[in-house]
Amino acid sequence: MATPNLFQGDFKASKVSNADIINKRRVINGYDDGLMQISPLKHPWAYDLFDKMIKNTWVPQEVPLQSDVSMWNDPDALTEQERKVFSRSLAFVSNLDGLQTNNLACNIIRHITSPEVVLAITRQTFEEALHVQSYATLVEAMQLDPEEVYGLYRQDKELYEKNQIVLKAVNKISSPHFKTGTFESDQMFLEACVSNIILEGIYFFSAFLIFYVLRRNNKMQGSGEMIQFINRDEDMHLRLFVHITNAIKEEQPELWTEEFQGRIRQNIIDAVDMEYQWGAACVGDGILGLTKDALREYLQFVGDVRLKSIGMAAQWGSQNPFAWLDEFTQGSMIEVNFFEGTVREYQTGTLEW
Ligand SMILES: [Fe+2]
Ligand SMILES: [Fe+2]
Repeated sequence: MATPNLFQGDFKASKVSNADIINKRRVINGYDDGLMQISPLKHPWAYDLFDKMIKNTWVPQEVPLQSDVSMWNDPDALTEQERKVFSRSLAFVSNLDGLQTNNLACNIIRHITSPEVVLAITRQTFEEALHVQSYATLVEAMQLDPEEVYGLYRQDKELYEKNQIVLKAVNKISSPHFKTGTFESDQMFLEACVSNIILEGIYFFSAFLIFYVLRRNNKMQGSGEMIQFINRDEDMHLRLFVHITNAIKEEQPELWTEEFQGRIRQNIIDAVDMEYQWGAACVGDGILGLTKDALREYLQFVGDVRLKSIGMAAQWGSQNPFAWLDEFTQGSMIEVNFFEGTVREYQTGTLEW
């Protein structure tokens, strides 16, 4: 957001240079004239992700869904539990993408003072809207009862409570009076960034896994393909928020206290636990080889990767029990190398012009 007071008075020639502005640039609390000068860059990772997201452009209309429609309409093609797990997962991811579109647009972006980070989040917001459209495309193609997808949270206590917890986490900074710039509010903003990592990198994961398990068993292939596209986008979003979190840590190291790290760790532990409870309720006694125990191990493994991505020690030391996932996600679901990556420098003393 533009620094207040700019363009308020009459014109006075200023000696401030582009280099001065960009050297003072920070993810939050930086100097920003609001005019999106993105050359040269202070946060090149954001522009790089913006560029990659554009290269990943796809639309849901491209995904063939005919075989899914036939399968859904064939009473013998799917078990009752497979149908239930499919529509329940669809309901949840649809809720999640819907609230994330609003969260980015209303809560996050207005506090960002790095234009290249604004560009990347703007693109991310568009992609979340595209995901909302994707789920609507599935609902329409399969002629699912919209009430059973969009309205499920009104009937299903577990889904209601899951949405409630996600919303509580992302809405901590939603007050129109919330402003960054104090120790407490900056910590709250940083915590909201980690909530984004949790949303993009944990909450989607049992639903994605369920779609992939079905696809691996030649069930609902088109939907699985659509989820692959969505998953590739979410992977970029996750990277973006890992970078944002690490950059704020680097720019304002005083925020990263022991106490704060304890809070972040607990948020990730709670998220893994909640995601497990939700996923376990969905898979029941297991579907197509997906058991509750394997799901728990997998989510703990994912939780460890998220902790390590922001410089924290692993919590569980679990292994990934689904080595085959890479073949569906081209590594984007859990590309450990990136998230455990080498130490990155976010703040450079001088710019490379
Ligand atoms: Fe999304
Ligand atoms: Fe996302």
